[in-house]
Amino acid sequence: MGMTIPTSLKGKSLIEPSDFSVEETEALFDLADEIIKAPEKYSEICKGRLLATLFYEPSTRTRFSFEAAMLRLGGQVIGFSEPNTSSVAKGESLSDTIRTIECYADLAVIRHHKEGGPKVASLSAGIPVINAGDGGHQHPTQTLTDMLTIRIEKGGFENINIGLCGDLKFGRTAHSFIKALSRYRGVKFALISPEELMIPEYVRKEVLLKNDIPFMEVRRLQDVMPDLDVLYMTRVQRERFFNEEDYIRLKDIYILDAEKMRGARSDMIVLHPLPRVNEIAEEVDHDPRAVYFKQAKNGMYVRMALIMALLGIENPR
Ligand code: CP
Repeated sequence: MGMTIPTSLKGKSLIEPSDFSVEETEALFDLADEIIKAPEKYSEICKGRLLATLFYEPSTRTRFSFEAAMLRLGGQVIGFSEPNTSSVAKGESLSDTIRTIECYADLAVIRHHKEGGPKVASLSAGIPVINAGDGGHQHPTQTLTDMLTIRIEKGGFENINIGLCGDLKFGRTAHSFIKALSRYRGVKFALISPEELMIPEYVRKEVLLKNDIPFMEVRRLQDVMPDLDVLYMTRVQRERFFNEEDYIRLKDIYILDAEKMRGARSDMIVLHPLPRVNEIAEEVDHDPRAVYFKQAKNGMYVRMALIMALLGIENPR
């Protein structure tokens, strides 16, 4: 018999990880596990339902995995990946756009260049809104993807030592990930970045220090590599830099290659939200510890679970 999806998630929006309790989040992972085992059971469960994808910034994984998720649940998808093909180009506000979209769709996924954009939309919306990434702020469904992957590969989150490496300042996936993982017992973070790309003060103060989470901030990946259970690599976010010179100076500061992987545990896993640029050499793709493409696939399954939960669709018996 399928597990019960918490009814508390029905009609909710997901703007940042703390919008869902630990129990609700774990229930989504349980459902995603069931979907992975028997996807055919879910192939018509969202028949007659419509998902809108509003992408004001480029995306491959987030948009396609949401669209694939809805289509694999038997639902349908509308939306744009280029806002200038919509009335946004005529100056329509985000609030008016979402109030229009809710006339047609049952839930909306929004990626926006402005921090807080999806939150603003959710305040005007009568349908659930999912934040698919807002500027350099948060990316909660990437975190669901990352966490499901860790749960599958490592069996859970308690007492794990996680290294986050790269652009921790602008990397929204890192901010949401730290926020979500800080709710588990015994999690420790090594934050590996250059001075200019250190974790923002609000994450340090309001998440790590406030919750007494052990963390260290280091410059060299090699110094912490042997202690890590999970290494989360991130891209230096060119689109968030104010000047190109700074980006060029910092872009290749960390490159994970086979030589560096030799310094890691045999059971460490490497995550990356993707896209990558240079920060992981392609030779690492062949290492069984590199799970970033599995991670991208898990993103579709956890988004299937999320769509079902927000629409209040029951798990088939
Ligand atoms: N991980 C991620 O958000 O990828 P996209 O930008 O391709 O959606």
